[in-house]
Amino acid sequence: MRPVTVLPSLLSCDFAKIGEEMAFCKRSGARSLHIDVMDGHFVPNLTLGPPLVAAMRAATDLELDVHLMMTNPLDYIDAFRAAGSDRIYVHVEAIGPRSIDAAIAAIRATGAEVGLAFNPDTDPAMWHGALAQVDAAMIMTVYPGFGGQSFIEATRPRIRALRAAFPDLPIQVDGGVNRDTVAMVTADGADRLVAGNAFFKDADPAAFLAFAEGHKAN
Ligand code: DX5
Ligand code: ZN
Repeated sequence: MRPVTVLPSLLSCDFAKIGEEMAFCKRSGARSLHIDVMDGHFVPNLTLGPPLVAAMRAATDLELDVHLMMTNPLDYIDAFRAAGSDRIYVHVEAIGPRSIDAAIAAIRATGAEVGLAFNPDTDPAMWHGALAQVDAAMIMTVYPGFGGQSFIEATRPRIRALRAAFPDLPIQVDGGVNRDTVAMVTADGADRLVAGNAFFKDADPAAFLAFAEGHKAN
């Protein structure tokens, strides 16, 4: 059994007061913040780029966990690392099998932790060679693009299979994680839980974080 970490997703915060929101996350017990970068191509939504990550970096000492939902993430790896990203996730669907080893090496070369993200309809079993080289995996439990969507239960076998194949790999889940789904994903083996709406819209976000981190992951 492994400890569980909650990563508040800033996509659900009030961007007009981002510094206060990050301080609130820290006061609530968070150690890591999840940042969603959307390019309007890989997903049908646009969010933010390296300048805003740099502003966030200047305003917090929490770990910055950066999720690149981009068609061409490798063109921006250096900029996101220079902005202060501690961990960078790229989507395997955007990279493709022929380029994955080079992509991992490129992120590694920046000094950032390397993460691979998988859409709900992508089977991580096809990517075991790549997963053996990285620091973390992230299973999307919704189709990426928007906060506040419903958890897709059909992703659960993928979490379990990944945990069985990689007993020591941090497994993050992203999308629809809330008080009703925390027990499921941790039982399946996820030990890092991204939470947007479930954290920021809760009447007591610190209590939600403590509730979720009170679980143990398989
Ligand atoms: C969705 C993003 C998520 C999003 C999750 O594409 O990758 O990180 O913020 O939001 P919730 O937790 O509200 O489903
Ligand atoms: Zn995300």
